[in-house]
Amino acid sequence: MITTTGLTKRFQKNEVLTNIDLHVDAKDIVVLLGPSGSGKSTLLRCLNGLEELSGGQIEVNGVVVNSADPLRVQRARVLEIRRQTGMVFQQFNLYPHKTVLGNVMEGLVTVKKSSVTKRLNAVGFC
Ligand SMILES: Nc1ncnc2c1ncn2[C@@H]1O[C@H](COP(=O)(O)OP(=O)(O)OP(=O)(O)O)[C@@H](O)[C@H]1O
Ligand SMILES: [Mg+2]
Repeated sequence: MITTTGLTKRFQKNEVLTNIDLHVDAKDIVVLLGPSGSGKSTLLRCLNGLEELSGGQIEVNGVVVNSADPLRVQRARVLEIRRQTGMVFQQFNLYPHKTVLGNVMEGLVTVKKSSVTKRLNAVGFC
């Protein structure tokens, strides 16, 4: 389950995400669609803790990162989130012989020894 509440991200004066409220339930499959530069990657980077939040909060499976929390608290929570999520990047670090799903699951299956079937079940593929 992923929720963002009032998620805002600025790069200097450029406000890329403004008050984004988003809710994704377990087994939902969601597509972010928009023109180049509209902030799709920035939203994903915020969810994975690759960007500091300028405002609002994110919640992933009960772990909350709020922009008002001290940075050390936010960073600890981001680590928790990273232990249960997968992200692949747009232009690099992909395994060409694997599917999108295979790439996303790689870290969880190889590093965390998570069951492939369990993961596929979690995203509604079984
Ligand atoms: N690290 C950064 N520093 C400054 N500006 C940034 C940074 N990262 C992204 N931006 C800006 O934020 C805006 C959104 O970029 P983002 O990469 O999220 O768009 P996108 O929707 O993923 O685009 P694309 O479809 O081309 O992948 C753009 O104006 C981009 O220049
Ligand atoms: Mg992008």
